[in-house]
Amino acid sequence: MIIAIDGPAAAGKGTLARKLAQHYGLSYLDTGSLYRAVGCALLDAGIDPHDAKAAAAAARNLDLANIDAGNLRTAEAGEAASVVSANTQVREALLRFQRNFASREGGAVLDGRDIGTIVAPDADIKLFVTASAGERARRRWLELKGLGEDVDEARIRSEIEKRDARDQSRASAPLKMAEDAHLLDTTKLDIEAAFHMAVSLIDDARDGGVSA
Ligand code: DC
Repeated sequence: MIIAIDGPAAAGKGTLARKLAQHYGLSYLDTGSLYRAVGCALLDAGIDPHDAKAAAAAARNLDLANIDAGNLRTAEAGEAASVVSANTQVREALLRFQRNFASREGGAVLDGRDIGTIVAPDADIKLFVTASAGERARRRWLELKGLGEDVDEARIRSEIEKRDARDQSRASAPLKMAEDAHLLDTTKLDIEAAFHMAVSLIDDARDGGVSA
């Protein structure tokens, strides 16, 4: 079974995807970490993430199977990831790895922005996970604070809105809900409630004759 999870920044996709992977015994890929790793490789080398040629080269040279997720969750890494993810060559360089991951034996859960539309259009179940911008900003603020970053919630909100706009308006694989995706609005749901709702959507889809 392949579960595709898409949605805007800080909607709770990662936590939900991890729990679903554990529940169904599937492998999990956080595809945002691939874009974040490209962004960080550039930042570490002192290169502007807008440098299209350097970003494409960085994406091609990454060892995608061995990405160290350690320092990728910072606000700076997220911003750099959003910039490089608008680069078509970067997206192309990362696509095959994601598709191979999706089709691995035993099934997989992938989360990102274009999983249901581009990476795994034939996924057995597609969830589009979202929440209000204010709630997403609050969650990202808590996450960054937990990582020891000194951040302002209002600034996080404006960065999230900027990032949403960039992710939705880019020409290459923009963030959008697949036509056959189920919408899961987590604004008023905690993670357990979101998880139970997702499990019931998935189990209904499977009972409806979708192969596992
Ligand atoms: O989910 P995240 O915050 O880790 O993603 C970081 C950025 O990577 C996000 O702003 C857009 C980009 N991204 C993408 O374009 N496609 C994906 N499948 C995953 C992430």
